[in-house]
Amino acid sequence: MAVCARLLVLSLWGLGLASTMEVPSLKMNNGRDMPAIGLGTYLGFDQNGVVKSKDKQLRDVVMRAIDVGYRHFDTASVYETEQEIGEAVKMKVEEGVVKREDIFITTKLWNTQHRRTEVAQAINDSLKKLGLDYIDLYLMHWPIGLNADYSHSDVDFMETWRGLEDAQRMGIVKGIGLSNFNKQQLERVLKEGTIKPDAIQIEVHLQNVQKEMVEFCQSEGVVVMGYSPFGSLVARHGSTVEGPKIDDPVLSSIAQKYGKTTPQIVLRWQIERKVVPIPKTVNPKRLEENINIFDFTLTPDEVEKINGFDTHTRYTLPSFWQNHPYYPFDKVDNPIADPFIKV
Ligand SMILES: NC(=O)c1ccc[n+]([C@@H]2O[C@H](COP(=O)([O-])OP(=O)(O)OC[C@H]3O[C@@H](n4cnc5c(N)ncnc54)[C@H](OP(=O)(O)O)[C@@H]3O)[C@@H](O)[C@H]2O)c1
Repeated sequence: MAVCARLLVLSLWGLGLASTMEVPSLKMNNGRDMPAIGLGTYLGFDQNGVVKSKDKQLRDVVMRAIDVGYRHFDTASVYETEQEIGEAVKMKVEEGVVKREDIFITTKLWNTQHRRTEVAQAINDSLKKLGLDYIDLYLMHWPIGLNADYSHSDVDFMETWRGLEDAQRMGIVKGIGLSNFNKQQLERVLKEGTIKPDAIQIEVHLQNVQKEMVEFCQSEGVVVMGYSPFGSLVARHGSTVEGPKIDDPVLSSIAQKYGKTTPQIVLRWQIERKVVPIPKTVNPKRLEENINIFDFTLTPDEVEKINGFDTHTRYTLPSFWQNHPYYPFDKVDNPIADPFIKV
């Protein structure tokens, strides 16, 4: 892990205490630093589509997050949270709490804008919503290109990648990367691209350890961001899933040893693996709990023990796209209906 970027003062609400903690950073292929934890801002999906923030709830969460030390925010054009993140950053800059350059924004290109000529326009739309003049890290959300009506498009993801490279050369994004690409697809980008990806965002948690993929990415200098970091500890798509829970005895005994909670242990496990977790919460107490993981380390044995929970289980499995030529995951027998297509 790269040298610590900054010292952050975390005020412990309610207790009236303050502690200083180092939030480290990881060096990307472009030479810039990514803070080692980010706040996830995807609010979920229901029968009405993407869940939207109400009454500026997300803006207030992001402002609070900045106060307790978060400097990295993960969004995507499809999450519809860019605007409130931008508002929060603007207010905190105006208050003098942070400068723009202290903040690291990751956002993503949606599948319906995969043509090379569409990428800069998509970025400009995101910049407008964020109220910023550059994005720190811009990811291709999926290798899958779709037409406006969500039918499969034949755009090769290498064409899209060239669009991301163009944007980095223009300076509207400082770093570029991928999300939900499998190893073979990443290898192709490394071979045929002219700029190496700075990062890849993939699903990493107790039940999807992704040992080989993480090691491969890191051997190429590609920083791994781990999404859905709590795995089965929390409900998924509105229901409890199989797998270890918050009171799991193995995790609880490690948590007890360090005076931490089991969610903190699984986040720290990602930090030990140099994976950048992006836990989502809108709860003020959990916001603080999730970043309070930089004052202890796990032993290699503990990391191995936690690796042992792996069952290669994914919770983001858009099987409705599985007949697309660039679908990145194994196919299933009974694909689910496409929630993006309104019938
Ligand atoms: N690239 C992709 O395709 C992709 C896919 C999925 C997700 N993501 C990104 O990854 C982020 C995180 O993933 P996720 O939202 O799927 O899952 P997650 O962060 O693993 O879990 C979020 C859930 O955990 C709860 N939670 C948060 N902290 C907790 C704690 N300390 N104790 C107990 N419960 C806690 C949250 O509830 P409360 O809010 O009520 O605390 C929420 O229900 C997303 O927001 C998004 O930014 C990217």
